Amino acid sequence: MSIRTKTIRLTLQLSLSFFLFIFINGEAKCRNGCDMALASYHVWPGANLTYISHIFNRTIPDILKYNPEITNQDSITSNTRINVPFSCDCLNGDFLGHTFVYKTVFGDTYKKVATMVLANLTTEYWLKRVNTYDPINIPDYAMINVTVNCSCGDRDVSDDYGLFATYPLRRGENLSTVAMESVVPAELLEKFNPGLDFGSGSGIVFVPARDAYGKFPSLKTSSKGISLGAIAGIIVAAIFGATIFAVCLYFVFYRSKQIEEESFLQGSSDEHFNEHLRPPKLEKITESGLLFGVISPRPTGITVDKSVEFSYEELAKATNNFSMENKIGQGGFGLVFYGMLKGKRAAIKKMDMQASKEFFAELKVLTHVHHLNLVRLIGYCVEGSLFLVYEYIENGNLGEHLRGSGRNPLSWSTRVQIALDTARGLEYIHEHTVPLYIHRDIKSANILIDKDFRAKVADFGLTKLTEFGSTSLHTRLVGTFGYMPPEYAQYGDVSPKVDVYAFGVVLYELISAKEAIVKTNEVITESKGLVALFEDVLNQNGARDGLSKVVDPKLDDYPLDSVCKVAQLGKACTHENPQLRPSMRSIVVALMTISSSTEDWDIGSFYENQGLVHLMTGR
Ligand SMILES: Nc1ncnc2c1ncn2[C@@H]1O[C@H](COP(=O)(O)OP(=O)(O)O)[C@@H](O)[C@H]1O
Ligand SMILES: [Mg+2]
Repeated sequence: MSIRTKTIRLTLQLSLSFFLFIFINGEAKCRNGCDMALASYHVWPGANLTYISHIFNRTIPDILKYNPEITNQDSITSNTRINVPFSCDCLNGDFLGHTFVYKTVFGDTYKKVATMVLANLTTEYWLKRVNTYDPINIPDYAMINVTVNCSCGDRDVSDDYGLFATYPLRRGENLSTVAMESVVPAELLEKFNPGLDFGSGSGIVFVPARDAYGKFPSLKTSSKGISLGAIAGIIVAAIFGATIFAVCLYFVFYRSKQIEEESFLQGSSDEHFNEHLRPPKLEKITESGLLFGVISPRPTGITVDKSVEFSYEELAKATNNFSMENKIGQGGFGLVFYGMLKGKRAAIKKMDMQASKEFFAELKVLTHVHHLNLVRLIGYCVEGSLFLVYEYIENGNLGEHLRGSGRNPLSWSTRVQIALDTARGLEYIHEHTVPLYIHRDIKSANILIDKDFRAKVADFGLTKLTEFGSTSLHTRLVGTFGYMPPEYAQYGDVSPKVDVYAFGVVLYELISAKEAIVKTNEVITESKGLVALFEDVLNQNGARDGLSKVVDPKLDDYPLDSVCKVAQLGKACTHENPQLRPSMRSIVVALMTISSSTEDWDIGSFYENQGLVHLMTGR
C-alpha cells in the first residue's frame, strides 16, 4: 500500500468515526477542550522514554518537564508512573479526549495495544469503537486511532485545579493510595470522579496534577464565547472588587496597627495572668543544667539523660507485658498502653520505627518542653521498638467527649475553655519554645481532657520525630484529612498556619460535635468537610438561624451570641489564604474575650495580612 492510499484510508477512518459520533449524539456534550492534560503512563519493564515519546508524539524534554523526579533519562524505573503531556480536545462535541495515531507491529491486537502499549490509558472497547479494522485481523504496520480520555477540570467541584492526569487504576490501588500519591484530598478525588470505585483495580480516574513548575494550576476562566453582557458584568464587578479591595486595604492597615498596639498591651497582661502556669522559658535552663543552645549544631556523641530513659523491662512490667487489657488507644503510629511507672500513671506509645541520632537529640528536647496545656513527654525507651512515655491524661480525648456514648455532654463554657486551653498549648509551641514547633496533626483525637476538664495537646513534636525515623512518603505528609489546609494538602507548604486551620476545624467540631468529614448522605457514600459545611451556613443570609441548626443537639442551653463568635473565629482560622488566618496569639486573646464575655470583640481584628501591611508601608 502506498503512503498516499494509507493517508486516504486514515482520513476516511477519522471522518467515519466523526460522522458516527455526530449521528449517534445529536446534542453536543462539550464545547471546548483545554491546552493540556497528562497521561499517567505506568512504565512496563522494557519501556523507555524514547518509546513513550514516540507513542505520544512528544519530545523527551517536553515529557521531562512534568517528571522532575527523573534524574537519568536513559534509564527510567519500570513499574513507576510518568506523566506525558497531551492536548485535551473536545472530540466531535461529544467528549474530552485526544486521538493519537499508532502504527501496529506484528502480533498486535486491540487488547495488547490498550493494556501494554498504552498502559491501560485506553481500552480494547474504545479501540474497536474508533477503528474499522477487523479485531482478529489487524494488518501489520496499520495506522490505528488510539483515543485517550482526559479532563479539563470541573468548576462545580473546585476552581483550584486546572490540570488533570488521566490515571488508569491498578490492582492494589485505592482512594487513599491515589490521594497520598497525588497529594490531593480523598474527598476531592471522589468529587472529581463521582460514583467511581477507586478500589476496583481497573478503570480510569482523573487526578489533579502539577504543572511544569511543580504547582497545581488553577482552572482558567474561559474567554471563548463570552457575551457582551457578561463582559460588561465583569467590568462592573472588577470596579466593585477594586473598591472593596481599597477599603479592605485601608481596614487591614488601620486595624493591624491597632491590633499591634492592643496585643502588645494584652500580651503583657496575658503574660502576667499566666505566670504561674508557664514554666521558665526553654532558652534558660534545663533540668540537667544544660543550655538548650548546645543542641544545635547537634552533638556527635549522644549523651543520654538517664532520668528520661526507661528499660524495656520496666515498661513491660508496668503494662502487664503490653497486655490488650492495658491498651487505651490506637493511632497512626502504633498502640497506646496504660501503665504505672515510678509510682506515676503513664501512657506508653509503642511506635513502629527505629531511632536515629537526630531522633535522640530531638527526644531530649521534647522531654524538656513543659506547659500546662501540652501532654508531657516523660521519657522513652529504644530497646527493640521505640516507646514514648507520656503523662497519663485520665479523661479521654475530645472526640470521645463530643461523639462517644456514655459521657455527659460538655457544656458550652467547658467547650470554650477547651478551645482556649488548646490555643494556649499551640501558642506556646509556635512562639515560646526553642526550637519552635508546628504540630501538623491537630485534631480532636489529639486533644486530651484531664479530670478537671482542662485540655492538653498531645503528640506535638511527633511529626518532626517521624521525619527523622523514616523517609517514606507516608510520614512526610503527616496530618489527617478534614483538618489539612489547602496549601499543605496540595503543595506540602508548612507554616504555623497549618495548625491554625486545623484548630479552626476543631472549633467547628466543638460547636456541632460533627466529625471533620461529615457524611451528608447515609445511602450513597457522600461526604463533605466540616469547613465547607460551616462556610455554607455562615455565608447565607440569616447565618444565626442557620448556625442554630448545626449546633450540637446535645447542647440544650447555650448563648447563641457566643456560638456565633466562635463560628466566626473558626471561619477566620480556616481562611483559604494562610496569611489571612490569625496567629495563635490573637486566637488566645479572642477566646479569652469570648470566655469572659465582658468585652465585645470584632472579627475584623483577626485578619493579619502582613504582606498587605508591608505593601502599604512601602517595606
Ligand atoms: N497521654 C495519654 N493519656 C491518655 N490517653 C492517651 C494518651 N496518649 C494517647 N492516648 C489515647 O490513645 C489514642 C491514640 O493515640 P495516638 O497514637 O496519638 O493516635 P491518634 O492521636 O491518631 O488518635 C488517643 O486518641 C487517646 O485517646
Ligand atoms: Mg495522638
